[in-house]
Formats: sequence, C-alpha cells, structure tokens
Amino acid sequence: MEPWPWISSLLLVLLALILLLLLWGRVPGGLPPGPQPLPLLGNLLQLRGQPLLCSLLRLRERYGPVFTVHLGPRPVVMLCGYTAVKEALVDQADDFGARAEMPMTQRTSKGCGIAFSNGETWKQLRRFALSALRDLGMGRRSIEEQIQEELGHLLGELRQTGGAPVDPTFLLHRSVANIICSMVFGEGFDYSDSELQELLDLTQENARRLDNIWVQLYALFPWLLGPLPGPHNRLFENFDEQKRYVARVVRKHEDTLEPAAPRDYIDTFLIRMQQEEGDPSTQFHRENLLVSALDLFFAGSETTSSTLRYGLLLLLKYPHVAERVQEEIQAVVGPSRLPCGEDRQRMPYTDATIHEIQRFIDIVPLGVPRMTTRDAHFRGYVMPKGTTVFPLLNSVLHDPAWFPDPETFDPAHFLDDKGRFRRNAAFVPFSAGKRACPGEGLARTELFLFFTSVLQRFAIASPVGAKELDITPEHSGFGKAPPRYQVCFTPRW
Ligand code: HEM
Repeated sequence: MEPWPWISSLLLVLLALILLLLLWGRVPGGLPPGPQPLPLLGNLLQLRGQPLLCSLLRLRERYGPVFTVHLGPRPVVMLCGYTAVKEALVDQADDFGARAEMPMTQRTSKGCGIAFSNGETWKQLRRFALSALRDLGMGRRSIEEQIQEELGHLLGELRQTGGAPVDPTFLLHRSVANIICSMVFGEGFDYSDSELQELLDLTQENARRLDNIWVQLYALFPWLLGPLPGPHNRLFENFDEQKRYVARVVRKHEDTLEPAAPRDYIDTFLIRMQQEEGDPSTQFHRENLLVSALDLFFAGSETTSSTLRYGLLLLLKYPHVAERVQEEIQAVVGPSRLPCGEDRQRMPYTDATIHEIQRFIDIVPLGVPRMTTRDAHFRGYVMPKGTTVFPLLNSVLHDPAWFPDPETFDPAHFLDDKGRFRRNAAFVPFSAGKRACPGEGLARTELFLFFTSVLQRFAIASPVGAKELDITPEHSGFGKAPPRYQVCFTPRW
C-alpha cells in the first residue's frame, strides 16, 4: 500500500474524531453561557482544587448570574443572587418546580417519598405530609409543648455537665431528632434505645459521606462507579439499614393501630393506605411510607441541629451578641418560666440574631438541585425540559444588594434604625417556590425555643478565647456543618 492514501485516511479519521469531541463538548444551543467543557469530564478540571461553591462563585464573576457548568457530561445551570433565583423559583415556579434526577437518590429513594420524587407522587405526598404534621401538632399537644418538653430534658443534661467543657453535637442532635421522631415514629427518643441511636449515627454518617470523593464521583459517573466496590456503596448500605429500621417500626404500628386515634405520621399514612387499598394508582403504598418517613426524619433533624450547633459557636465567637440576646430574654421572659413562641414578637434583637445565624451560615449553600418541568424560557435562554438547575442559596443569603457587608456577622442586617425587626426578601435558607422547605414553621419554632431557653438558663463560654475560635465549616458540600468545638454551660442561677 502506498504511504500517502494511508496517511490521508488516518488524518481524516483524526479530524472526524476531533470534530466529534468538540461537538460533544459544546453547550447545547439555548443554554446560558459557561466555560467550554471537555468531553466526558465537562468542566471538572476548572472546578478542582477548591470547594465547589468557591469555584462556582468565581465563574459567576466571569459569566454573570446565570451560567452553565458541566458536572461531568451533565450540563447544570447555576442561578446566582436574589434576582435570578427569585425569577426562576418564584416567578416561574411551575417551570422550575421539579427535583433534579440525581444518581444517588435514584438508587436510594427510587422516585419514592417527598424530597426526591416528582409528579403525582411528590404532589400527593407533600400535601399529605403537610396536613398530617399540622394535625399532629395541633392535635393532642401543640408542637410548641412537645418542643418545650424535650427542652426540659436537654436543659437537665446541660446542668449535669457542671460547667465543664463539652462538645454539644450529640446532645443537640438527639434533642432535635427526638422532636421529629415523636411526630413521625410516635416514640420520643428513649435514651437507651440503641437502635434509634444507630439511626441517628447512620444519618450523620451519610451527611458527612456526601463530601467523600468516591460519592462525588458516583454522582458524576454512576455507570462507571456503580458496579465497582468502594466507599460510595456504604451510603447505599446505610440507607437500606435505615429503611429496615423504619420497616420494623411500621410493623409495630400495624399491630397496635387504632384507625380512630392516629398517634403519628406513620399511623396517619397506614390509615390512608387502608382507605386506598385496591386502587392500583394509589401513592399510599409501603415504599412511599418508608421513604417519606425517612425524608422527614433526615430533613427534620440534620439541618436544624447543625444550625443550632453553628449558632451556638457564633454566639461564642461574638459574645457581645449573646449578651444582648440574654438581656432581652431577661427583660421579656424573665427567669421564672420557659420562653414561648409568642415572646418572639417582643424580642426583635433575638429574632434578628437567629435570622442572621441562618443567613451567615447558609446551611444548604448550593440549594437542593431542581429540574425544569418543561422547556423553560428564561432571560432569553431556553433550558430544555429535564435541565438540572442549582439555585445557589449562598449567593442570595450573601447578596450585597440585600445585605450590606454580607461576610460580616451582624444582627443589624435584620433590624431597622429604631431597633425593630425588619424582614428581608433575600432571607431564603428554606429556599422558595414550589419545593420550598415544608418544615420551615417547625424549624423556626425549634430554633427560637432552643436558643432562648438555653441562653435564659446558662452562661455560655468557650475554653479557648473568642479570637482563636475557628468558625470555618467542617464540611461544605451539599450541607454545611460547623467544626467541632467545646462549650461550657454554667447555670445562671
Ligand atoms: C433549619 C432547618 C431547615 C432548613 C435550613 C431547611 C432547608 C431546606 C431546603 C433548602 C430545602 C430544599 C427546598 C427546595 O428545593 O427549594 C428543604 C426541603 C425539605 N425540607 Fe427542610 N429545612 C429545615 C428543616 C426541616 C424540617 C424540620 C423538616 C421536617 C418537617 C424539613 C423537611 C423538608 C422536606 C420534606 C423537604 C423536601 C421538600 C420537597 O422536595 O418538596 N426541613 N429544606
């Protein structure tokens, strides 16, 4: 064979390959601009070396508040700042109202439950959960009373520490978990129940694991990592174990169910299952019960307890803020009774401080990924149905147009010049729109009652000086957690 035709065929093949790779890596027409992706890897090389959030905020400086980044082969639209996030999640709520399909949750939740489902399943289960939890809170005992009872145990435990330095992680997490447990599983946390303790440990472990490199690689290349052994599989094993726990609790409920007197979310769900038995299109089946109960447990314990823990750390870091909150508690509540929800209106500084804690720490910095429900026309771009969208809540909570000097912790972000509480539309730790957190009311009551009750009874102090206290988050992927620290609770009387 002559050399020239052979070389020219090779060149042609190479040229075709290069063209194919370039086309493969192109941003599909209509999506917002963004860095040029590589085939398969997308923009991973541009994103490495620092936390994902920091890389994304840098890209925003170049491409503006709406841009596309390829996480592996998948294009993801990033929304930054109050205006863009509000336009999408609120003004075009229907277009941006679905949950993104993510390889991990597809393997764990399998389209069931509330947080990672879509369509009719999500619609019915979300409505059901909201009304069931409302009924349970407004029924026998109000949510507030349940929280106060739990706080009684916590305050007792804190008193027993005798002012010695303790890591508050376990105590706070257990108290918060107890509240959601009593609503979902009906049983307060029996401190000796090792099974329930295991459920808590598995939940915390999974929250930490989301930052593991193997888990993140699985999220990008499930077809590659899926069949392989590795630490990412632990996440799925944990989830199955949690499901087995809930299944055991459900069996106990079935044995003792009294349809006229539902005790908790599980009972309410079982009654609905009986009512719709035989309906082939019902959403009220066992798998949806197990996954929605776990959704509520996970979403209802992890975020709130991390916020409490982080908030306490900030109060140690900024003791002048803690002092002013304590003065307000003393003036409005006094020493002889526990604070209650009604006090909040007369405690603007405390209310502003809790808002500022949530704003400053932005516990879910990237938001929970959304997906377009149809071809969405947005700011001149077209995002095809099924496009993944990250509403970067961090960029809203730290938007300088809404919060002057956003990197400074300052309750004045939520106070007017007369010291009255001032709402701020960019306060979105619970997100906004159709999928906004359904637990907001419960979480806000918990945060208020926990902070005020602890500060009413105890002086808090750090064994290390405020200046040396590190407030950098321990992990900051999907959800943030504060670094470990020690605190002394000294009874004030
Ligand atoms: C400080 C506490 C909390 C914070 C910061 C928080 C934040 C969030 C955020 C950012 C989302 C994503 C919303 C979206 O996609 O737009 C969410 C969803 C959710 N949260 Fe919360 N949450 C908290 C407490 C709770 C509690 C106490 C419960 C339980 C009652 C709960 C249950 C849920 C559920 C079930 C979802 C999924 C909603 C859906 O997909 O329709 N959360 N939360």
